[in-house]
Amino acid sequence: MIDASTSPVRIEFHDGVALVLIDNPPVNATSRAVRAGLLEAVHSARTNVAVKALVIACEGRTFVAGGDIREFGKPPLEPLLPDVCDAIETSAKPVVAALHGTALGGGFEIALACHARVMNNDARIGLPEVKLGLIPGAGGTQRLPRLAGMRAALDIIASGRQVKAAEAVSLGIADCVAEGDLRGEAIAVARSLVGAPLRRIGELATPDFDAKAIEAARGVIEKKARGQISPVKAGEIAMLAATLPLRQGLARERAMFVELMGGGQSRALRHAFFAEREASRVPGLENAAPRAFESIGVVGAGTMGAGVAIALADAGLRVTVVETGAAALEAGRARVRSAYERQTKSGRIDESQSAERQARMAFAEGLEALSSCDLVIEAVFEDMAVKQALFRRLGLIAKSSAVLATNTSYLDVNAIAAASGRARDVIGLHFFAPANIMRLLEIARGADSSADAVATGLALAKRLGKIPVVCGVCDGFIGNRILAAFRAQAEFALEDGALPHEVDAAMEAFGFPMGPFAVSDLSGLDIAWARRKRLEPSRDPQTRYASRVADRLCAMGRLGQKTGAGWYRYESGERIVDPVVTKLIEDVSAEFAIKRAPIDAETIQRNIRAAIVNEGAKILAERVASRALDIDMAMIHGFGYPPWRGGPMFEADEIGLPLVLKDVEAVALSCGRGWEPAPLLVDLARSNQTFGATV
Ligand code: COA
Repeated sequence: MIDASTSPVRIEFHDGVALVLIDNPPVNATSRAVRAGLLEAVHSARTNVAVKALVIACEGRTFVAGGDIREFGKPPLEPLLPDVCDAIETSAKPVVAALHGTALGGGFEIALACHARVMNNDARIGLPEVKLGLIPGAGGTQRLPRLAGMRAALDIIASGRQVKAAEAVSLGIADCVAEGDLRGEAIAVARSLVGAPLRRIGELATPDFDAKAIEAARGVIEKKARGQISPVKAGEIAMLAATLPLRQGLARERAMFVELMGGGQSRALRHAFFAEREASRVPGLENAAPRAFESIGVVGAGTMGAGVAIALADAGLRVTVVETGAAALEAGRARVRSAYERQTKSGRIDESQSAERQARMAFAEGLEALSSCDLVIEAVFEDMAVKQALFRRLGLIAKSSAVLATNTSYLDVNAIAAASGRARDVIGLHFFAPANIMRLLEIARGADSSADAVATGLALAKRLGKIPVVCGVCDGFIGNRILAAFRAQAEFALEDGALPHEVDAAMEAFGFPMGPFAVSDLSGLDIAWARRKRLEPSRDPQTRYASRVADRLCAMGRLGQKTGAGWYRYESGERIVDPVVTKLIEDVSAEFAIKRAPIDAETIQRNIRAAIVNEGAKILAERVASRALDIDMAMIHGFGYPPWRGGPMFEADEIGLPLVLKDVEAVALSCGRGWEPAPLLVDLARSNQTFGATV
């Protein structure tokens, strides 16, 4: 018997209908107590003659949003969710789910076990288990194909995407959308089902499907998964719904769920899930209150400035975009307009949303237009003198409560802040292009940045739906600094014996969406070249220089895709291995007396991974990042590090330090001088600043 005073599940009686209410903040996860309470409610309704039907609904912001992820990986406690779902589905009295918020994972599986589903207009359903390295474990893979057909089920299960109410109704997943009072309408539906034969999804046959099309869909899933196991397994298990009886399908589903739960990929994705949320809780800033912001200025309407402005307007903020001169301003306006046109064309947003967002933007010449902004974000040319001159003026023009942010990628935030005359108001806000899409936002904390200015950056990230990573000031912050180490290793591999397409293939096999040389061609080789030239005088001649090949490509005018050639040659958009580049690489190796030898994919991956971890360790040691999880988040959300690996530092932790040390030694060997590997990592471990946050 459940203690009603402590159970998160309670029952209200509405004239023959038992309204079963789950109240387990924050997201009504199916903890053991919730499972037990639900089971008890269904059982007690069975024997209560006054109860003719049941409605399951939730208090708070959402219907059940899934299993309690904090319980994952621990021994499961009874009752298990599949048993709860079974009790619901086999109930002789109708059970209706009343869905609001996000009915996800186990929550949606509870709803699938019910005999009907009523959704709020803004509710969503989904099976996001694959995003945690799992598959649905309580019938989702077996019931959804029976209800919505194989094609829709595969899409929803393998992508983990959320489905809005209108689509759910059109796919037959939800029976109706409530027009007003969700619970009242669900109760009415429940009453209407009393006495009629119940529609149990588990008893339905999976509708016929085009086997060829489904096979093709499976191929797409595998390709998209890029090494992640769960979407592929989810697809395989869902397919069983077509051939196996429910019980057998459920048993296979459960076995796979348990297997994946114990695996490394799920551990890594759970780490990433909590790290995403932990990233905004920065030690030392717990009590810092952000400054209020509604109106934001963006200086510069180039690619980055326009992207930032769009991200802000999309989040409902008022934006004033400033450029010097009418022509630049008009170009910026056109850039924004065409970005919105692309979005409406692709169906991401509709015309009215596009108009509404653009209406929040104003364009002006001259910084004076920013005098009433709460926050100003600079996205002008990457040049210290230009930025300092700008901040000198912004320091005078912006109101005294405004936060001033620089979007510099590499320059010294402290030197920029000093120019403003009000360094406490200055932070770095480093967006990644395209700024309205990429989720990473590095927030650089200058030596004199006030806690509330940094907290304002964090609040902005939340408003924009971005993952904030707070970091100290250094060349390249966290992400670009690690990228430099990554790239150096990739370029060493070229001189030592590999070719660009081999390095790219190795890193794509590792799980990156694109290899480093393909990325470089896409973003253009010239910016990094300009930076190398700028840093040339201060380069340590004792350290092996990585970019000899890149320098020569740039000198030849091969700046990447935009010039039709870079590391590769491009013909009608197709990337082609170019013998000219092969010859150039071989010439450089010969010139520097490097004996070329083939490098296998595993060695390339190991060396690059070790370089990343090693740089990450330095970043931690220097306190540029205060936590390993910040590095993981920067790499996953800014640079395409495969999320199912949990990030480089989590992975290092999982592999264990000794192996990492071995890898780093390998790196030290492969790149000659310039690494300080083992002692640093050992010191970090000893001083208990070890890698990876425990989840
Ligand atoms: N188990 C345990 N805790 C959960 C949880 C779950 N399934 N889902 C969310 N939480 C916690 C979060 O960790 C967060 O806790 P915190 O405030 O201590 O950081 C809190 O609930 C709020 O979540 P958050 O993501 O910050 O809120 P949101 O409103 O932006 O999003 C959800 C809500 C439900 C959409 C989102 O949390 C989500 O997608 N959760 C995972 C759902 C899932 O994968 N379910 C299937 C599990 S197999």
